[in-house]
Amino acid sequence: MSALLSPEPEGIADLSSHDSFVDCVPHRTFEALRRDDPVSWFDERDASGFWAITRHEDIVNVSRNFRQFTTRHGIRLEEMTEEERIARLTMMEQDPPEHTRLRRLVNRTFSRRFIETYRDRVRAIVSRVLDEALTQDEFDCVDAIAKPLPMLMLAGVLGVSEEDGAWLADKGDEMMANSDPDFTDHVVDQTDTDAFRLMPFRSPAGAEVFEYAERQAALRRGKPRDDVISILLEPDRDGEPLTDHEFKNFFTLLVVAGNDTTRYAVASSVDLLAREPRLFEQLQGADDALWNTAVEELLRISSPTMHFRRTAVEDFEMHGRTIAAGDKVILWFISGNFDDRVFDDPYDADFARDPNPQMAFGRGGPHLCLGLWLARLELRIVLEELTRRVRTLRPAGQALRLRSNFINGIKYLPVSVTC
Ligand code: HEM
Repeated sequence: MSALLSPEPEGIADLSSHDSFVDCVPHRTFEALRRDDPVSWFDERDASGFWAITRHEDIVNVSRNFRQFTTRHGIRLEEMTEEERIARLTMMEQDPPEHTRLRRLVNRTFSRRFIETYRDRVRAIVSRVLDEALTQDEFDCVDAIAKPLPMLMLAGVLGVSEEDGAWLADKGDEMMANSDPDFTDHVVDQTDTDAFRLMPFRSPAGAEVFEYAERQAALRRGKPRDDVISILLEPDRDGEPLTDHEFKNFFTLLVVAGNDTTRYAVASSVDLLAREPRLFEQLQGADDALWNTAVEELLRISSPTMHFRRTAVEDFEMHGRTIAAGDKVILWFISGNFDDRVFDDPYDADFARDPNPQMAFGRGGPHLCLGLWLARLELRIVLEELTRRVRTLRPAGQALRLRSNFINGIKYLPVSVTC
């Protein structure tokens, strides 16, 4: 059996439940849905429900079709009241042209060309992180490598101190991993989070990050610095500055989007390389071209953000089903990434796979990940340095997965190394 597949219970897993993702990604379920029922309905506990879109081609088409499939009603499964929606609004929950106004503010800073200028900085951070991690023969790769790297990098991009970056990463976890008791006391489907419903992710951490963002803005008003926070405080192309509220939500979006996603891409990649020594050895001898394709393949396999939501604006026919106006439509990027209509032998890691239209960052449409060049750069450099400095890499115990149907994350990954 492929190292990417774990034994799964019989039948179709309940994709609405975080518990269905604790032991493994339910790949067999996605495979059956892609084959037999590519637009399938799942009920949810709160009496709502969603259409699961599981084929690569359909996910691309819906992503592009933002006029008929809006993000205005949210990008996760959670239902929001109008008051909650407005309080938590970021560019993700807006369609063009409103979305374009916000996205334009940061597009340049996250462009391929601009991110390239970070190459030396990323390598320096990776070296520091590895110097520390590799003093031990056995360690938790998440804690020692995968978690610190994106956090240190994002702190630099945002323009805050490394200590604050570590604090923000923890707050980001409390929000993004709001369904896992290891990361929050306010587990979203197990406790009453009503008091925090106007905060990002219905989490008290959202309030703390808002306060932090306010303090950072105050430091820069009238005294801009060379960082992303200062860019967000500048007026846009039409001379309109973000409102305070828009600024705080934008800042929070960057904190949550830029941290654990890259962390889990690194963790998943290291997990695979530890379990498949031949792949580790292949990277030890890789040239530039193989590194390029290998990073795309590792992103395909790791698929850290498993789904995003759209909502149908009007009735829409797809594969014989009628998606009614107002229905939730969930794009399962992780399923698209293993669709054998697009990827030959999808459960085999093929580092030379080319073309590789992986959809870990989304695919097509206005919301394609802002941070994809940064994430690619970080993943590549950490693996380049790891394979250069480490002779052998092996699992050293049972890895633990996040309890989430949204984020595909390994939260604990014991490995042993020889250098
Ligand atoms: C491996 C790491 C990452 C993965 C897998 C990932 C995945 C995604 C996905 C799937 C989307 C939504 C696409 C859609 O709905 O069409 C997204 C959007 C976004 N990502 Fe990432 N992301 C990663 C890293 C980052 C980083 C480092 C940042 C930097 C701050 C970032 C910032 C964002 C933002 C701001 C959006 C919203 C874009 C918009 O609405 O226009 N992401 N990401």
